[in-house]
Amino acid sequence: MVIYMSDKLSSPSIFIGVQGNGLISFGSGQPDLPPPQEIFDAMKNFKAFGYGLIQGQQTLRYALSKECGDADENNFVVTNGASEALDLTFRSICKPKDKILIHGPYYYSYDPMLKFNHIEPVITETVKGKIQMDDFEQKIHDCKAILINSPSNPTGRIQEIKTLKEIEKICKDLGKVIISDEVYKDLIYERENYMLSGDHIVTINSFSKTFSMCGFRVGYLYSNDKNIVKNAIDIKTHASMNTNILAQEMAVEALKVPKTFVEKQRKIWENRRDIIYEGLCDIGLDLWKPEGAFYVFPKVKNPRKTVWELYKKHKVITYIGDWFGDPTRIRLSYALTIDKIEEGLKRIKKYLNSG
Ligand SMILES: Cc1ncc(COP(=O)(O)O)c(C=O)c1O
Repeated sequence: MVIYMSDKLSSPSIFIGVQGNGLISFGSGQPDLPPPQEIFDAMKNFKAFGYGLIQGQQTLRYALSKECGDADENNFVVTNGASEALDLTFRSICKPKDKILIHGPYYYSYDPMLKFNHIEPVITETVKGKIQMDDFEQKIHDCKAILINSPSNPTGRIQEIKTLKEIEKICKDLGKVIISDEVYKDLIYERENYMLSGDHIVTINSFSKTFSMCGFRVGYLYSNDKNIVKNAIDIKTHASMNTNILAQEMAVEALKVPKTFVEKQRKIWENRRDIIYEGLCDIGLDLWKPEGAFYVFPKVKNPRKTVWELYKKHKVITYIGDWFGDPTRIRLSYALTIDKIEEGLKRIKKYLNSG
């Protein structure tokens, strides 16, 4: 059977975990920086192998509540990464055929995750990655909630604080939920994070990016809406039960490390951001300057062919923009060393100059 290029690029799973053999992967959004050493202390005396609390271990929820402006630890649900927190939130607030507004381009799991739950994604298109209030205001009326991801995967752009405050107010007045996916909140290069707050907010976060712990699968949702928290616990009881308890202990240790750990990592990402952004501009690509996270999202001619040929002929992995709702672009993650970023840029330049 002949497999056509377009079939092979039907999902990011073709590239996830693929490495070695001289490959430069700008694919997966997986930090290459090490987690804090201190987290391994949790393993030394660990002996508890039974089930844990479905809602999450009390020590972790308590530590998280102190991180989130002295929130109530009962309002957290510890999950298998931000992914499960998103899924539980969608299922907790929606019934089949409800709609959720997302800003495009969007993280590639949003659309399928909503559709698996029979929820309809409605897209509000952005300009240079920024939400446009007039389009948002028109579309929010029909939707149960808006899902905000700032800084964004794949654009690396952040939403203006003014925009976030306006959305916060409008949603409060209209009785709409805001789901705020903040997995990149510690990786902002331009300003402090603005944490959305209020009874209509569900905050989603995880230890995957800030603490380089993606494989440990610890995330959480946090909301002052007790019904959302209760629904999420009810679903989790029957869907996946508790989140890995050793990983939760390690997450507690991660929260204890001095803030300088996060600040040092942020500086490393910012330096890489500058190198890849300037490198791609020098090649002549059209892209927005990332303000956070670790992605660039340049426009290229024929993105599908570009991604395929970069992979097959130059051993460079990139992702097609199609997966993120923008078929005119490709996404590159700069979660790799400067040497590799520079080598990858050389190969991309060679490929683009040859065509
Ligand atoms: C915007 C966004 N949300 C959620 C996730 C999932 O994160 P986790 O590994 O915590 O499930 C990712 C992972 O790349 C992401 O980019």
